[in-house]
Amino acid sequence: MEKQLGQLEYEKRIGNTLISEEQIKAEIKKAGEKITELYDGRPILLVGILKGSFVFMADLCRAIKAPCEVAFMCAKSYFSGTESTGTVNIVMDLDRDVSKYHVVIAEDIIDTGRTLKHLYQMIKQRNPLSLTVVTLLDKKERRVVEFTPDISLFDIPDYFVIGYGLDCDEKYRNLPYIAEFNQNI
Ligand code: IMP
Ligand code: MG
Repeated sequence: MEKQLGQLEYEKRIGNTLISEEQIKAEIKKAGEKITELYDGRPILLVGILKGSFVFMADLCRAIKAPCEVAFMCAKSYFSGTESTGTVNIVMDLDRDVSKYHVVIAEDIIDTGRTLKHLYQMIKQRNPLSLTVVTLLDKKERRVVEFTPDISLFDIPDYFVIGYGLDCDEKYRNLPYIAEFNQNI
């Protein structure tokens, strides 16, 4: 059967693979071990920032070999396409009091740093036992506000990337690896 135009265009926009499934898996294993050691059996609340972190969260929580609860927050910082709006909207807040937990924020990517800086300050004010940030990807050269994650799995150059939870206009989150996005097609 011939491929539909939509399918062909979809495929053409998937650029070079930047990080393979195997590389992601290996780094998540190490991050899980680090988090397990760091908290040594104390109560962890893993907070995933939706939507981008849902795939990362699913793998990261299974790499942690310690008592670990999960929760989600939904923040929107991208208006559409690849352009940042600069404002952070909390679309869905946490469902519990964080003061009895060592909170570990799991984010898909840190770009300008605005989203995480905002969320970090917001959660910090709620007095968690401790607060740690783990990000799958870090685009350091794009920072406009100062923010350094505690654990970063991969530093990447200034490319717009898709896959493994990351989207462009809500698509490509289901790609199992990280690829460059071909904008000029
Ligand atoms: P920041 O506030 O600029 O650090 O942006 C963080 C958010 O922008 C991330 O949580 C992503 O949702 C989105 N974002 C930034 N860079 C990319 C990218 O290369 N691909 C897909 N989403 C991105
Ligand atoms: Mg995100």
